[in-house]
Amino acid sequence: MDVEAQKRAAATHAVALVRQGMRLGLGTGSTAGHFVELLAERVRNGLNVSAVPTSKATQAQAERLGIALATLDETPELDLTIDGADEIAPDLTLIKGGGGALLREKIVAAASVRMVVIADESKRVDMLGRFPLPIEIVPFGSTVTRRAIEAAAAEAGCPGPAPLRQTQDGHAFVTDGGHWLVDARLQRIADPRALAARLSAIPGVVEHGLFIGLARTAIIAGPAGVHVVERP
Ligand code: A5P
Repeated sequence: MDVEAQKRAAATHAVALVRQGMRLGLGTGSTAGHFVELLAERVRNGLNVSAVPTSKATQAQAERLGIALATLDETPELDLTIDGADEIAPDLTLIKGGGGALLREKIVAAASVRMVVIADESKRVDMLGRFPLPIEIVPFGSTVTRRAIEAAAAEAGCPGPAPLRQTQDGHAFVTDGGHWLVDARLQRIADPRALAARLSAIPGVVEHGLFIGLARTAIIAGPAGVHVVERP
């Protein structure tokens, strides 16, 4: 199974969790995109659900495929959110935001009774941090905020640079919420909770990509098949 087939296999397993009438959160990224396609197939076959997308990209995909959408204000409690991840630790702490949608993804996950993360095996790690940690910041005073992020990371025991994410033409990457992103290169985040607390205390930080205590289940597909990990 190549990586794309693994993502599809995880998404196939996840779509079987969806029941008639559920209020869903739809994640962002290539793995979540497989889930949206498979969900649309079930909708065409009579499944009735409403879904809150976590990005403009997922919204456009779901609309194109005929999935009924709602805003989070219309459905403030969701039954199930399915989303991808950039890294998954053994306790199901995640790094998310590689696709730039971490803020809405975290709001939607926190509003859900259950968040299920779907991924190919390459996303599993013993310790978070090799994937640069996305952190959403306000554009105002971004240099000050980036310095504060670097200081916070050093104090939390994982020093590293926090450069701004840029588009291919050299402009700052702008999120759906109109903010900027930094990708903090920290390598080994031994204490995600300590780092998360320090990052959240920085005034210019809108949200960070550490998802702690949100995912309850991970569906991970590898060459040997799919396995399901529940949060300890
Ligand atoms: C989007 O902001 C991210 O959190 C994605 O869920 C994450 O980057 C995984 O994306 P892929 O499924 O494309 O690897």
